[in-house]
Amino acid sequence: MCGIVGYIGKDNATRALISGLYRLEYRGYDSAGIALLTKDNIFLKKVAGRVSELDNAIRDRVPDASIGIAHTRWATHGVPNDINAHPHTDCEKRFAVVHNGIIENYRTLKKFLEKKGHRFETDTDTEVIPHLIEEFYDNDLMSAVKKACSYFKGTYGLAIISLANPDCLVVTRMGSPLVIGKGKDEYIVASDLAAIISYTDKVIYLNDGDVAEIHPDRLRIESREFGPVAPEIERVTLSLEQIERGGYKHFMLKEIYEQPVILRDTIRGRLNYEEGIARLHGIANYIEKLRDAERIIIIACGTSWHAGLIGEYMIESLAEIPVEVEYSSEFRYRRPVLKKGTICIVVSQSGETADTLAALREAKRHGATVLGICNVVGSSIARETDAGIYIHAGPEIGVASTKAFMAQIMTFALLSLLLGRLRRLPVDEGRDIINAIRRIPDQIQSLLEELPGQIKELARTFKDHRNFLYLGRGYNFPVALEGALKLKEISYIHAEGYPAAEMKHGPIALIDKNMPVVVIAIKDAIYDKVISNIEEIRTRQGIVIAVGSEGDSQLKKNVDHIIYVPKTLDHLYPLLTILPLQLLAYYIADFRGLDVDKPRNLAKSVTVE
Ligand code: AGP
Ligand code: GLU
Repeated sequence: MCGIVGYIGKDNATRALISGLYRLEYRGYDSAGIALLTKDNIFLKKVAGRVSELDNAIRDRVPDASIGIAHTRWATHGVPNDINAHPHTDCEKRFAVVHNGIIENYRTLKKFLEKKGHRFETDTDTEVIPHLIEEFYDNDLMSAVKKACSYFKGTYGLAIISLANPDCLVVTRMGSPLVIGKGKDEYIVASDLAAIISYTDKVIYLNDGDVAEIHPDRLRIESREFGPVAPEIERVTLSLEQIERGGYKHFMLKEIYEQPVILRDTIRGRLNYEEGIARLHGIANYIEKLRDAERIIIIACGTSWHAGLIGEYMIESLAEIPVEVEYSSEFRYRRPVLKKGTICIVVSQSGETADTLAALREAKRHGATVLGICNVVGSSIARETDAGIYIHAGPEIGVASTKAFMAQIMTFALLSLLLGRLRRLPVDEGRDIINAIRRIPDQIQSLLEELPGQIKELARTFKDHRNFLYLGRGYNFPVALEGALKLKEISYIHAEGYPAAEMKHGPIALIDKNMPVVVIAIKDAIYDKVISNIEEIRTRQGIVIAVGSEGDSQLKKNVDHIIYVPKTLDHLYPLLTILPLQLLAYYIADFRGLDVDKPRNLAKSVTVE
């Protein structure tokens, strides 16, 4: 969940490291640090706070160096302060390490090392790493790193420099992301591409267990299973502009406005109108298995779990395959029963979520076929699944997921169309679905032009309320959950999502004149039931903000505020109804003066348990 950067080459290491940290700050930002290798020592500077604090602290006060490592942290062990910030060193300050992950057995290792006379300075799990390397060092840094790693339980992405081997940078990973960028007589390593693409478009993805020894003009990789492996260089297509904010106040707003373009990318090349079917090349070898599956288990966290719920409803109604949705963190520990014929689908924007990666591995241990729906190309989850579908949402920088959620829903719409047509849907129905899918990006574009003024007014009206309820039914129940999550994670207002009919089983006790209730009440098959739920709220003075279907003037008479969305097929409505809820959460948080892109306590990718 933190960001690590390493540099070795002809350039000034500090410039590369600090600019890389800025690009990775959304991965964690409670403290930051840098270590530079000079001929006499390792220069170290660490500060609590953002990367800018570190940048200011070292300005013009660093030695020239061409090798270094740096870190922007999201603490798991040891409070965020200067001493617990990374990089961490050994007793003699000959080795410096930055780490992403958790060393779960660090207490045992710490005791073992203290018995051998090692002196610890911090409360972190990470600090055992340089001391263990120091313990095993015998004139070869790569060997010492490999031996130390064999003692670790847990997850790590590491970059290591050493006074003892001043001509190389060693990196390795297990369960945390790490990418190597290859420049001209220089290499830059980082937790993800954002820190690399301004240097080079040639990258090498490390696999779990790989250890790389990097020199300015060469590198060698050893995999844990296979020994020496030839580096596979891939080209990155992302432009720097894709990473930049693009003129919007926040990445989140930029990403909300990117959604029409994103969805066109998600759909591109995947619809066959003649046959009324979707084409998903990434899972081509598993289509029959999916078609004949006895059960599909969708596994994810957070917003991706909400997308999975929508996927469940879509696949069951169109393809009539039994589907269930599991939280990754629950699935990985509850000893699931996976019979033959069960297919698991893991959903993850980052492709690095520790719980989802662990759930994937648990499913594979049970012999299940595991497919992925990911956004980040080359991410750990993407590479460990048997096959998968990239959602093509581009880099999502804002911690609150928006465009990736849309792209996940659209991906499930394509998958449910494909499976539905293979199992039971006639070609005409497939074509109707394709026509409706093709209209969605333009419908979203229209809403993005029509809604902001109205949503800003609602945000000004309700920004100081302390509690919200979000209600929906059927396909829009998961949308209610997602709308509530968006609001709470960026505005810090308490919000709960519920199936609308659940109100009378307890939550209705919360209703009074101070409770805004967002109700998704579009004209779908269960519209009349939702209208009754709205009545229950209104009779108790609840404030109703409805998301309704264009032209529904009757609904407008029964609520306090209404936001209209255009008509589409029932199972595609989530692609439209989530949009006003994303905008409402964004503007409430912005009007409350909060850091929308980096909400407190959160980070973009939860790569620790
Ligand atoms: C969504 O807004 C949150 N940032 C969070 O719930 C996120 O969806 C969750 O951590 C899963 O992340 P992933 O999709 O990258 O696995
Ligand atoms: N566990 C390490 C620490 O708490 C690294 C945390 C992270 O990966 O963000 O410093």
